[in-house]
Parts: sequence; structure tokens; C-alpha cells
Amino acid sequence: MRAAEGAIRKRLWQGCAPDWICVSRRPPPPMPVLPAVRPLSSDSPTESPWVVLKFGGTSVSSADRWRTVAQLTSDRSRTESARVLVVVSALAGVTNELQRITDGALAAPHVVESLIARHLALAAELGLDGQALLGEQLDLLRESVDPTRERTLSWQAGILAQGELLSSMLGAAFLRAQGLDVGWCDARQWLLARGRPNQNAWAQRLSAACDTAQDVAWRARFDLQPTRSLITQGFIARHADGGTVVLGRGGSDTSASCFGALLRARRVEIWTDVPGMFSANPAEVPDARLLNRLDYAEAQEIATTGAKVLHPRSIGPCRDAGVPIAILDTSRPELPGTVIDGGASTVPGVKAISRREGIVLVSMETIGMWQQVGFLADIFERFKRHGLSIDLIGSSETNVTVSLDPHENLVNSNVLEALAADLAEVCRVKIIAPATAITLVGRGMRSLLHKLSGIWATFGRERVHLISQSSNDLNLTFVIDSADAQGLLPQLHAELVRSGAMPVQDRTVFGGSWREIVGSKRARPISWWRRRVDGLVAMCVGRTPLYVYHLPTVRERARSLCAVGAVDRRYYALKANPHAAVLRTLELEGFGFECVSRGELEHLFASLPELDAARVLFTPSFAQRAEYEFAYAHGVTLTLDNIEALRNWPEVFRGRRVWLRLDLGRGEGHHEKVRTGGSAAKFGLPVASMDAFVAHARALDLRIDGLHAHLGSGVDTPAHWRSVYAELAGLADGIGTISTIDIGGGLPIPYKPDAEPLDLAAWAAGLAEIKAAWPRYALAIEPGRFLVAEAGVLLTHVNQVVEKDGVRRIGCDAGMHTLLRPALYEAWHDIVNLSRVADSVCDVFEVVGPICESSDVLGRQRQLPSATHAGDLMLIADAGAYGAVMASRYNLRGWPGEEAIDDA
Ligand code: LLP
Repeated sequence: MRAAEGAIRKRLWQGCAPDWICVSRRPPPPMPVLPAVRPLSSDSPTESPWVVLKFGGTSVSSADRWRTVAQLTSDRSRTESARVLVVVSALAGVTNELQRITDGALAAPHVVESLIARHLALAAELGLDGQALLGEQLDLLRESVDPTRERTLSWQAGILAQGELLSSMLGAAFLRAQGLDVGWCDARQWLLARGRPNQNAWAQRLSAACDTAQDVAWRARFDLQPTRSLITQGFIARHADGGTVVLGRGGSDTSASCFGALLRARRVEIWTDVPGMFSANPAEVPDARLLNRLDYAEAQEIATTGAKVLHPRSIGPCRDAGVPIAILDTSRPELPGTVIDGGASTVPGVKAISRREGIVLVSMETIGMWQQVGFLADIFERFKRHGLSIDLIGSSETNVTVSLDPHENLVNSNVLEALAADLAEVCRVKIIAPATAITLVGRGMRSLLHKLSGIWATFGRERVHLISQSSNDLNLTFVIDSADAQGLLPQLHAELVRSGAMPVQDRTVFGGSWREIVGSKRARPISWWRRRVDGLVAMCVGRTPLYVYHLPTVRERARSLCAVGAVDRRYYALKANPHAAVLRTLELEGFGFECVSRGELEHLFASLPELDAARVLFTPSFAQRAEYEFAYAHGVTLTLDNIEALRNWPEVFRGRRVWLRLDLGRGEGHHEKVRTGGSAAKFGLPVASMDAFVAHARALDLRIDGLHAHLGSGVDTPAHWRSVYAELAGLADGIGTISTIDIGGGLPIPYKPDAEPLDLAAWAAGLAEIKAAWPRYALAIEPGRFLVAEAGVLLTHVNQVVEKDGVRRIGCDAGMHTLLRPALYEAWHDIVNLSRVADSVCDVFEVVGPICESSDVLGRQRQLPSATHAGDLMLIADAGAYGAVMASRYNLRGWPGEEAIDDA
């Protein structure tokens, strides 16, 4: 055993001297003379034998992951007859710890000891004798961490290099123990840092770039390495003075790319812990789509503008050398990942949306710049003086605003202060920070602007400081205050997909969504109508357009809500669907009702003559005095959201009770038209006016015994209701007379095929948590859509199928007069041809109605049977909420029919 270890160690140390590795106090030793061995070659004499595999921190931090590294190395070597160069990062988190040491942390000796313990533990997990393998290197690390020493840049680089040196040593020993013919090599023998113009001393040592110009002699020397495969370090290279440099954070990707370029490798595989590059950060946008294939320029833009998967500097060397890059997932090696190469066909459209945080904007204002030669040169020279590289620029006659990206600059308050002082000599300076840059990346941005109206509208609500469209036609960037950027990305991504600006239907570029790939989807139950197609077809003869409601589905949804223990009272918002059979079904399930007009109240009492008025809420908006009087006369609970009604009609309210509807300052929901909170919405009393309302109510002896908020409809974050509940409960404490808290409706349903049903368990858990803190208040909810949407379908016959300019349209007898949601909210409803459910040959169609409006579209870009024909019966799904009730007789067309069916 000892002898074997000795051999491994000898191999590990071949070609490098330990003191040089750690700190370059002495000049580096001369390059070792390598034995003249005939290079191992691939089967093809012209093709490079090399494949470069790079593994990041999490991919080298456990024995399990190292087994994958071994497996992949052996696979590539066997199935492609390739020689494999494995490039590794430090174990996850180690570079951060080393950075604490180089930053001069007082606890440096402890940091070192814990790093040592961590590496020895991994060695043990790998079945290796860590002390024998790493002992010398670890001793050197201990020695070099002397708190009294000067923290020169080269010392810092030497310390930072330790993480990769240690992980690669462990890896080499492990791979050899698995029987692989692997040698260890010191990256600093092979990668030489290249000085860049205007690079300051810090960047030269700690954010270096490497020389990757083609070098035949270099390649020949590398090919002479005696082992079939090699393992080396990412992140580190050799300074011209022989010392160590590091390539900046994320530099291991860059190392792999540099090696790939120098070796003209078959490809560079970047193994990481995500399945590839996505159209947005999946942590923020679970609907983000995998990007199957990108060209170098697009990948470069995506990486530069915020995607963390690949370091921006790592694309250039491979691009210049024409070496493809593949991004792959170590924990899911079977997935295809993202391929970046020069052969990707050009698909115009937005490929990704990304954001960069911590942007600093420098706004410079002067009237002196107008037509003044040299003003820009003058100010830019001052940025150069402070070593700051400028990212984006916006200018007008009197103002130039530029952005600084902290990842590319050493932007700290000292540097900014000095810069501002310097600039103040020639202009008025304002620093705007923290800002966020949101970038749309994709080819052909110039020709896409007409599809981006929704994006402009979304940004229009924020304070946009700078907009920049690059002339390479790849990038459109908006810089806004960081506070405004919260939660914006999912909205923008959905808008890009909806508008067609992101062509997700193109499968050469776009893969599945993050949710689909990582399998986090909650299953969507099979819709009831799929089992009743024949019955529906029979029912519709001569009767379309016809809404059909499936009462067992209504019942099932009602019971799922009744099972939530924290909720004490449930009121059905009957505006969603006031069909009498639906009302009866929900009454029997113990639901109360929420009405918003006298008409709804009358309809309710006419449909359910036995209903106790105590089970009815009345939440009108801007209603007439008579409606309030009617409500009180019938004994229903009235909810009010303004003081004016109390002022204007005190006698209506005197001595009564009321619930107060508050606006918590924000709206949520599936579309801006259904967000009912925030200053743009007409609903709710601002919290700031609550005390005034309470005072008015007291003066009228009006008892406020409920507190209500409904901030929107179709809200898909379960945490929303929890926070509304908590906010209302906190406010209720201050009023003192509240017995019920009503958190409104708004529960979503999954309209789109890839949407998930509401996570009811998470919703209920959030409410239970708040209930535990405020058990004294009864909790009420008033859902509409959730109970009825999926229970209803709209059936419609095809009138005509017409093709115009390449667009095929299916024209139905239902249109926006029957189902307004698509025209009003661009809402999605699944559409199925019930006459051809078995047809698998499909085309893309637009489904339209008979109304004389261009907005009369029920669905765009739908895959429907190619044979769809006049007379076919189409089904529009999930139409049970806000369907028939929002129909009109526009164009003097008829009302849709309605029918409820039950299994009983
Ligand atoms: N409570 C109040 C005070 C409401 O204003 C509403 C709906 C609800 C409850 C029920 O919300 P739900 O649970 O259905 O989301 N026509 C639009 C929806 C408008 C909702 C208006 N207020 C749509 O089709 O999406």
C-alpha cells in the first residue's frame, strides 16, 4: 500500500516544486524534461485526440460525484478512443474560505485547519490515505498563513490556488485507484497568463487571462504526456514572472476552455449541477426553458449578462478555435444539456432573459457637452484612470449615463468617491445604485421590437434609468432600480413566450421547462370531459355554443377546500358562475356566498330560497346607495372600502355592522386587469386611511367586525394568502372589534398544459401558521374560479376553416361574445377537436369566432388535427369560471346555452 501511495505521490508531484505551488518566494524551477513517449493518438489521424471535461465544485465534493467523474472519463476514453483532460475546481466553498484568508481574516489559522479537515475527510471517503497524499501540501498551506506577513498579490494568488491543487491531487489518486491511466499535471506548466492593455496590478494577478494562440510546439509537448488521460486544475495559470496567477471567480471554466482551444479539442464538456443553460434563471423562473443549442455569440451574451452557468470569459477561446462546448449535469448525466458551437442554425428570437445585480450607474450632466469636441474622451479618460471599465452607455445632449458592472470592476465606495470627485471637475455627477440590468438576448432583436409591446408595458411601470440596444443585434438591456426588479423576471419571461418573441416551439433551440426536467411538477388530474366525449357530442347537436358544467368536479373542489382546517368560513364568489345548479351544489357543501350587486343578491335568493342571509357577503364597488340599503334590509354582511359612503349616507350605516376592505398596497393575479390592489386599482381603502375610517365608523356607532382584502384573481404563489392573512391580523389587533378576517378569493387553476395545480398543502400550511398566531379571529375565504373553472367546458361547432397568408384559421360559432377571457386577458384555454380526438396528424391553427373584431381569437398557435373541418365539434376547456357570465350579445349574436350535468 505504502509503495503504491509513493508512486501516486511521485506522479502527483511530477513537474512541480511544492514551494512554487504555494508561494513564489523563489523563482520557479525549470520545466521538467519530459520523457520522449510516442503520443497516444485517436483513431482518426486528423482529429484531435482530446476531450476536455471540466468539473465544478459540487461535482468534486463527494465520493459519489467522483465516481461519476471516473465513469465519464472512462466512457469518453473507451467509446470515443479519446484522451481525456479532466479540469477540476476546488471543493465547493473552498475558494471562498481561501479568500477569507487572503482578505486577512483574523481566524485564518482556524480556517486553514477546517479546510485541512475537510480534504482529509473527503480523502477518507474516497478510500485514500489523505495524510500521505496531501500532507506535504497541507503543511505548506499552514506555514504560508502567517498573519504577520505582507499580503502581496502574488501571495494571495498562491493561497487561492490551493483549492484546485488539493482537489486535483485527490482526484488523480482516486481515478488511478479506479484503474484509469491518469496523470496529474500542474496547470501552471501549460497555461501562461497574458497581460491585457490597461489591466491593473490586481487584475494581472487575480483576474488574469491566458494566452490561447495556436502553438504547434505546445500541442506536441502536451501530446507527449505519458498517460492516456490527465487531470489538472482550473482557475490557475503561470505569471510571466513564473509565479501563480488566478483567472478570477469562475475561472475553472475559462481554464477548460483555454485547454480546449490550445488542444483544438473535439469538445469541452462543462459538468455542473444544472442541466444546461436556460432561457432564464430557473431558481427564479421555474418555467424557464432549456436551451438545447446556441451559437457562440448568443451564449456569450447570455453568460455575460447574468447567467451563472458558464463564465463569460470561457466562451472566447473555444469560439476562436472552433471547439464546441457542452454544458452537462453531473447528477443527471443522461440529459442532453446545452451545446454551444458555430454550426447552430440562426433562429431569430429572444433566447434568454437575464439580470445582473449590483449595477452602479454614473449619470453625468452638463450643458457644456453640447457639440463640444472631446467631452466624452475627457470623462472616459477619468474612468480609465480609476481602472473602471464601462458596460452600457446612454446619452442625450446634456447627459451621459454609464453603467459599471461590479463583476468586471473593483467597484467599492472609495473608488466611486474618487471617480465622482474627478468627474465633478467637468460635469455634475450622480451615482445611482443599487441598480439591476435586465437583458433580453437573442439574434435579430431589431426585427422583434413589435413583439415586445408587453415587455415595454411591464417596464413602463418601473423607473427605467437606461435602455441600451447593441448594434450586434443580440442584446436589449433595461437598467432599473434593484427594488423594482423583484419578481419581475417570471412576468417578463411569460410575456416573451406569450407574445411569440421567444420562439419556444422551435425544438432545435428550446427544450423542456425546468419544472419538467427536474420533475417537480404536481400532477394535473385528468379532466372529467375526457371520459365523456361521446355524451358531450350527443348533447350538442344543434345547441352550440353551449357551456356544460360538471357538478361532481365542483363538489370535489369544494371538499378540497373544506378539508383545510385553518379556514372557518367559505363563501363562493358567485360572479364566477351563478348557474343555479352550481349554487345549489355549493350550498349543500356548506358554502356561503359572496355577491357584488343587487342583481346577484336577488338571483341568489331566487335560486336558493331557503338560504340564511347570515351566509351571504355583499362586496359592492362604487354602488348606489339603494344597493347598500337593500343589502342591510336583507340581513347580509356588507363590506365597504371607502369613507365617502359613510360621510355621504350616514343614516344608511348608523348603528349597523360592516366589514372593511383594505388595499394592502399591491395587486396580484394572472393579468393586470384582474389585480385589485395598489394605487392603480379602484378597490380597497388604503391602510393609511384606516384610522380615519375607524373614527368615522365610531362616530356612527358602526361596528367593524370583519377585515377583508382581495388583491387579485389567479394568484399562483401560495404564500400570498399567508401574508395577506398576517397583515390583516396585525391590523385587526389595532381596531379591537374584529372577529373575522377575510382573505378574499383569487385561488388559481392550471389553464396551460404545463402549469401546475395550486399547491393546496402549502397554501393550507401557510394559513395554519398564521392561524396559530392569531387564533382569536375566524378565517374566511371567498374563492370563485377555483371551484368552477375546471368543471366547465364550452362546446362549439366549426363554421369554416380558412387559410390566409400561411395562417390556417378555424372559425367557430363561439367567439369573444361567448368567452371573453382570451380577448380581454389573452387568457389561455386548451382547445380540443372532439370530433377527431384520435387524430395524431396535426397542424398549427388559430381558433377564431364570428365577431367583427380582430381580437375575436380564442386561441393562437394551437396544434389541432390537420383534417379539422366545418361541422367538427370543438371543446374549449376550463371555461366554467368567468365564461357564460361574461358573455354578451355583441353583433346581436345569441347567448350561449348552459347545461349542468351530474353523475347521480
Ligand atoms: N372576492 C372578491 C372581492 C372579488 O373581487 C373576486 C373576483 C373574488 C372574490 C373571486 O376571485 P377568484 O377566486 O375567482 O379569482 N374575470 C376575471 C376574474 C375577475 C375577478 C374579479 N373578482 C377572469 O376571468 O380571470
